[in-house]
Amino acid sequence: MEKKRSSFSGGIGFVMAAAGSAVGLGNLWRFPYLAAQYGGGIFILVYIILALTFGFTLMATEIGIGRKTKKSPSVAYRVLHSKFGFLGHIAILVPMIILPYYCVIGGWVTKYMVTFLSGNGIEAAKDSYFGGFVGDAVSPLLYFAIFFGITALVILLGVEKGIEKISKFLMPVLLVISIFISIYVMTLPGAMEGVKYYLLPDFSKFSFKTVCAAMGQLFYSLSLAMGIMVTYGSYTKDETNLSKSVNHIEIFDTAVAFLAGFMVVPAVYIFSGVEGTQQSGAGLMFITLPKVFEQMKGGAIIGALFFILVFLAALTSSISIMEAITSSFVDKFKITRKKAALVCLVIAIALGIPSSLGNGVWSHITILGMDFLTFFDYLSNSVVMPIVALFTCILIGWILGADTIIKELTKNGEKMGRAGLYRIMIKYVAPVMMVIILVFYTLAQFGVVKL
Ligand code: ALA
Repeated sequence: MEKKRSSFSGGIGFVMAAAGSAVGLGNLWRFPYLAAQYGGGIFILVYIILALTFGFTLMATEIGIGRKTKKSPSVAYRVLHSKFGFLGHIAILVPMIILPYYCVIGGWVTKYMVTFLSGNGIEAAKDSYFGGFVGDAVSPLLYFAIFFGITALVILLGVEKGIEKISKFLMPVLLVISIFISIYVMTLPGAMEGVKYYLLPDFSKFSFKTVCAAMGQLFYSLSLAMGIMVTYGSYTKDETNLSKSVNHIEIFDTAVAFLAGFMVVPAVYIFSGVEGTQQSGAGLMFITLPKVFEQMKGGAIIGALFFILVFLAALTSSISIMEAITSSFVDKFKITRKKAALVCLVIAIALGIPSSLGNGVWSHITILGMDFLTFFDYLSNSVVMPIVALFTCILIGWILGADTIIKELTKNGEKMGRAGLYRIMIKYVAPVMMVIILVFYTLAQFGVVKL
């Protein structure tokens, strides 16, 4: 007899766990840097429009598929349609590619948190600090192992005791810390100029690239096309109001990304000017921000708080990425969570070590001109995720029909807002956009077009 499937205790538990998954390095590290790079306000405007349309459509679809089938992605798509089993296999590739490098960056965050907590934040502000650390062969691997170990521990504790408990506690804490730091930044002299840069849309900076960057960010940030929301959907009870939950997760995730930008962009603008805002992603958080903290009054404490915040957010996300893999192996091969976690360990070692060493001793080895970590990020975000999203739209929009999901979301008599929009998005707009993005990203990668 099949073991009873674990579940979240209720609506709040589910929303907190899903928000825990969504809010992560994507919000705190990637969003501020993209917002800064793509002109501040205009990027935010595009992002919010996409979140309310694409984000909502794909999140409702994935959570709906999960709850309807009560299966993780490796099996769920086959249950929906016998010819779509292949989609489950592709979907589960995404968390497998992401988990190792996510834990490598999680390890970097852990190192910075430890540095600030031990009162050595000034060290972190030195020019050579970040390069020296990630270029080292041993230290980043050690922090990677610590971060992966903590993730695995929560996974072994299971869904309700592990994931739900930790998220229910961490998410509100995270929100409070972000609001606190944002308010602090607002009180800095000259903050208004930075806030203006961050908030006011400059339409001359709008391009197709802005849309592509915002779309990629949306997928990453909302944990879409990674198998995660299907997995978490499969753990929700039939009584849970999914439409409402989707709205809450969307709002929570976008709010934290917005606040993260508020914490980072104006501060960087004040201390390093426009050039500072154009620094690369890794640079903005690990190189530029410690310099900002160094110059700030009370920066040592704010810096420590900030890295605790990023650590906690990254942790609840890596937990969800690992859960998508674990749950898929449990469902597909009927093995225990412990054995499935062991499989994750093997994958993490196989891909995590090159991701880490690619910044130092193995930096001479490249794939398509990218170091390992950048390549895995490109492969998952720009290739496999749009493919998963495209086939999901074809399956629901064209083969099974939008009502499959709408019915699942309203089966207790709930109202689903934006149902009309959902029908158009899932059938026409989303699949067409996925094809455009896939084609352009690929052509751009091979230098055929310039994005
Ligand atoms: N959604 C997760 C993040 O934003 C993966 O980091």
